[in-house]
Amino acid sequence: MKALTLHAPGEVRFEEVAEPGPCEPGDALVRVEQSALCGSDLHVYHGREQGLDPKTTLGHEFLGEVIAVGSAVERHEPGDLVVSPFSTSCGACPPCAGGLTARCERGQLFGWVQNGHGLQGAQAELVRVPLADTTLVAVPAGLPHEQVLLCGDILSTGLFCAEAGDVGKGSVAAVIGCGPVGLMAIVGARELQAARVFAVDSVPERLALARRFGAETIDRAEEEPRQRLLEETGGRGVDCALEAVGTPAALELAFSLLRPGGTLSAAGVHTAPRIAFSPTAAYDRNLTFRTGRCPARRLMERALSIVARGEVPLGDVVSHRLALEEGPRAYELFDRRLEGCTKVLFLP
Ligand SMILES: NC(=O)c1ccc[n+]([C@@H]2O[C@H](COP(=O)([O-])OP(=O)(O)OC[C@H]3O[C@@H](n4cnc5c(N)ncnc54)[C@H](O)[C@@H]3O)[C@@H](O)[C@H]2O)c1
Ligand SMILES: [Zn+2]
Ligand SMILES: [Zn+2]
Repeated sequence: MKALTLHAPGEVRFEEVAEPGPCEPGDALVRVEQSALCGSDLHVYHGREQGLDPKTTLGHEFLGEVIAVGSAVERHEPGDLVVSPFSTSCGACPPCAGGLTARCERGQLFGWVQNGHGLQGAQAELVRVPLADTTLVAVPAGLPHEQVLLCGDILSTGLFCAEAGDVGKGSVAAVIGCGPVGLMAIVGARELQAARVFAVDSVPERLALARRFGAETIDRAEEEPRQRLLEETGGRGVDCALEAVGTPAALELAFSLLRPGGTLSAAGVHTAPRIAFSPTAAYDRNLTFRTGRCPARRLMERALSIVARGEVPLGDVVSHRLALEEGPRAYELFDRRLEGCTKVLFLP
């Protein structure tokens, strides 16, 4: 079958790879109808995250049809349309029972194979899904597939980021970064009834999307976010800072916007060796800081309910729909934010 693989940083190939299988008893085999390109794929693309075996199939967001199941699978059968969270989970171990499905003791991340172990990704024609019963979610009838696909990662991650940021009724929140994750954090903050959501970026089309999703925008190329937010909050700072970039500069900015006792929620995957603010600065602000991989499986039902209500034009985040063979170009478009690229879907 065909897939997008990473051979070395910057070197994505569209090529023939082995078909997945044979199945473990708990596995399902899914024929991918749509997969997507995530900001997290850029960390390995740039070599910021290391350890991936050369020729690993990339990608962890997908929706498709079950074409085969192992003997232990009970909840899904061939012909079912399913959407997947970006990591697998058993639903029964202590982290899963506590809602932290991203840290399942038996869980694996799609598109991460290291020293021969792990799970191939979904930017491919077929993908193997272990723990299928407790990982996959049936696609509800009548919902747009492109938006359902977003529930497996970015919409759940946006919700998670807002939840971890202690957003509640009446909160004033600032979202740092209006990439796909930041845009969904705006949706998440509004879902949790924030009174005002500000969003910071410098890419015009992303700021326009942020406004469409309900944020008041700050173009950091034109004004100083901290100054503006102090003005907007009577000199106090925001209650919740939701960081969705993954760089020290963004984390530092998020920290600087908070009121004393505020919460900083970092959804960005940080690869720098140290956190960008000091323990003293955190102490002096009575900071609550949360970060980590989104337990998407736990949040998918709520994410699907947002899609079902249809109040937010979530599909507008998708800027490019490309064939899998255009993968190498798609990585470049998304990475360099060319042609208004915000979110790429692959349609194998
Ligand atoms: N925690 C999780 O489970 C999880 C899940 C998905 C993605 N992520 C991470 O979320 C991050 C964002 O993903 P994405 O797909 O939206 O990526 P992206 O690269 O498309 O978006 C990042 C955005 O941040 C903006 N930006 C850069 N520096 C900035 C700064 N200093 N201040 C304000 N804005 C700035 C950029 O212009 C861009 O629009 C990545 O680090 C990704 O790995 C985490
Ligand atoms: Zn992702
Ligand atoms: Zn588990």
